[in-house]
Amino acid sequence: DDVQQQERFDALVADDQRIEPRDWMPEGYRKTLIRQIAQHAHSEIIGMQPEGNWISQAPSLRRKAILMAKVQDEAGHGLYLYSAAETLGIDRSELLDMLHTGRQKYSSIFNYPTLSWADMGSIGWLVDGAAIVNQVPICRCSYGPYARAMVRICKEESFHQRQGFEILHHLSHGTPEQHAMAQESVNRWWWPSLMMFGPPDDASPNSAQSMAWGIKRHSNDELRQRFVDMTVPQAQVLGLTLPDPELELDEETGHYRFGEIDWTEFMEVIKGNGPCNAERIERRVGAHDDGAWVREAAMAYADKQATRSQG
Ligand code: ACO
Repeated sequence: DDVQQQERFDALVADDQRIEPRDWMPEGYRKTLIRQIAQHAHSEIIGMQPEGNWISQAPSLRRKAILMAKVQDEAGHGLYLYSAAETLGIDRSELLDMLHTGRQKYSSIFNYPTLSWADMGSIGWLVDGAAIVNQVPICRCSYGPYARAMVRICKEESFHQRQGFEILHHLSHGTPEQHAMAQESVNRWWWPSLMMFGPPDDASPNSAQSMAWGIKRHSNDELRQRFVDMTVPQAQVLGLTLPDPELELDEETGHYRFGEIDWTEFMEVIKGNGPCNAERIERRVGAHDDGAWVREAAMAYADKQATRSQG
């Protein structure tokens, strides 16, 4: 009965075992996972847009090939994640519909514009760097399909982060104009990258329950701190500065102190009022509509194959 099922579920979570699609799970657990995995999947496919903008403007054939491979990886991550969400009993078309109608979110970061080539560097270094810090612990998420999808995704994210670092390193050690372009870009992406980790712990309604369920392993603020601690020394290697006068090593704790994040800006962006929210959704809905014939053709083909194999 339900009590026994709940006890078995609690024991699996307490024992750090994985919950699999056919296992009983509390309705709230299922809902939370659908919400988080869908938001994650949406972020991957919306995240293709800011970079896609620069494929045709990449400064060399080599840079273009790398950027194309990276953007394709993001499409792949989206597909893994939609598949993981579908194991919870929801259809991909329903999830896309919720994205297109604003009922499900995607990461705030992808609502900022990409104004220069250096932004490809900042996205790789800072945005993918933040994504790795957030996602590595999800490889140990209590829900098996999400945890397993995250293993490969994290490996690919590491490559993305390195390619971004390399772009910035190259620019930073180039001409004065290139150095200035890299610095200007990092100045714009730094604060939005810190916002990716979500609201502060005391304003994060989902954290406590998600941590109790083993979906989240660390709080938003813990991961944000980890990211800052990791990134400051990398900025020094790049020869770039981070736009925060309060950034300072606290000798006692060994952690970097940093300035106040503009949470009003964060709330505006997740409410749909960021610089590019409308443009991102419009482009996504357009791409979905343009792809209708492909879905129809694939369905017709699958039906034909099924009829043949029956006959
Ligand atoms: N952008 C948009 N929405 C956000 C963000 C953000 N950066 N941070 C938090 N939110 C939303 C939450 O989704 C939640 O809204 P909802 O209840 O309507 O879904 C609300 O703000 C409150 O936040 P929390 O209670 O802290 O939410 P949660 O426990 O889900 O934590 C977090 C947010 C850390 C983003 C978590 O969902 C997570 O780890 N997700 C997986 C990683 C991910 O989505 N990465 C995408 C960007 S990285 C990339 O794709 C390259």
